[in-house]
Amino acid sequence: MRVLLIGSGGREHALARSLAASPLCEALYIAPGNPGTARHGTNLALDISDHPAVIAACRARAVDFVVVGPEAPLVAGLVDDLAAAGIRAFGPSRAAAQLEGSKSFTKELARDLGVPTAAFRRFTEAVAAKAYLRERGVPIVVKADGLAAGKGVVVADTVAEAESAIDAMLGGALGRAGAEIVLEERLVGREASFFALCDGAHALPFGTAEDHKRAFDGDGGPNTGGMGAFSPASVLDPALEEEVLDRIIRPTLGGMLARGAPFVGILYAGLMITAEGPQLIEYNVRFGDPEAQVLLPRLRTDLLAAMIAATDGVLDEVRPDWSDFPAVAVVLASRGYPGPVETGSVIGGLDAAEALDHVTVFQAGTAERGGEIVAAGGRVLAVTGLGPSLAEARARAYEGVARIDWPESFHRRDIASRALDAG
Ligand SMILES: Nc1ncnc2c1ncn2[C@@H]1O[C@H](COP(=O)(O)OP(=O)(O)OP(=O)(O)O)[C@@H](O)[C@H]1O
Ligand SMILES: [Mg+2]
Repeated sequence: MRVLLIGSGGREHALARSLAASPLCEALYIAPGNPGTARHGTNLALDISDHPAVIAACRARAVDFVVVGPEAPLVAGLVDDLAAAGIRAFGPSRAAAQLEGSKSFTKELARDLGVPTAAFRRFTEAVAAKAYLRERGVPIVVKADGLAAGKGVVVADTVAEAESAIDAMLGGALGRAGAEIVLEERLVGREASFFALCDGAHALPFGTAEDHKRAFDGDGGPNTGGMGAFSPASVLDPALEEEVLDRIIRPTLGGMLARGAPFVGILYAGLMITAEGPQLIEYNVRFGDPEAQVLLPRLRTDLLAAMIAATDGVLDEVRPDWSDFPAVAVVLASRGYPGPVETGSVIGGLDAAEALDHVTVFQAGTAERGGEIVAAGGRVLAVTGLGPSLAEARARAYEGVARIDWPESFHRRDIASRALDAG
């Protein structure tokens, strides 16, 4: 099998590492990739929003399977366009990717199917949204309908905060993503991420994780794309996982099938575990970043074979086997992230960190300059450690972090303590 992986983040480095390890993988290309993915295959400088260019690249290299990492190309219909060109691709169609591409689509689907989720209402006019806000009161959650790269959700404690979020979103601050908004009830509980590999009709549990979204220790500071994660999730147990499958994942798959938009790919449910049980916060239609960096190193069976089986609708042939070792990933970001950052600083110690047993360094915003790895973005590295216990996994991850020589970075020192301190 000749494989093209789409994307360039830390998630794609983790995907590239697992795909390249498959005995089925004869050649791996990554577009556009990063210096980390280049260690497992050949990077292609492609504009991935140019679908004809992606198709031409597949034909030129006899690629027969494409794996799409990020959400934007899925929502833009890359899988549909590849299929129309006769190229098999792993990931949902444009129609099925609406589960992530439109919050209101997912909320209405959940309501229609009886999937537990926060009460909500959709709006395109600020006056009506504010009237509903006064009726419901605070706290309340204001969400842009479309893809907003993590900037589309405001959990408001005051009416003023909620009103300014409504005005900003409907006023165009997020572009088309905010032309419609959802106001929803705030759920209280602990968050967890649940992953399912789906072939349109069946769902196979594919790991759980928890992430840390805030920039600083103690969950302080601004929201980020994710400063660290650990797997498995500490708040889920087998009974809760069965409940998530039964009440959330399986009904969703059935509902999508019935609507003529079967979901194929990785379905990532963002959950709130409340006193009344698990509630759906949101769906993503791909692996998370940095969740992939804790899930995939724990997968002991063939990722590529599993993805092919899902794409071909024969998921029952897949028996994933997971390491008993938990995993912890610590993200190293450029100082200033999630605000503006300076790029170009040299990163040392990558090999020293990777020389540690059970430690892997995943690259995200990096570039190569004269044989050296330099910072080229906000989130730059994720250092993953595995160990016989969560505490040991974390200790290994931080040992790896200590070997990275990059003074211009910062990272959180409390990844996974949420689970460790509780237990
Ligand atoms: N109804 C809710 N009640 C409480 N908290 C919420 C609610 N909805 C969202 N949140 C909080 O806001 C965060 C982001 O919300 P959501 O996952 O819907 O947005 P997103 O931008 O798609 O996130 P992601 O980048 O993880 O895909 C959640 O992880 C949760 O912490
Ligand atoms: Mg999302």
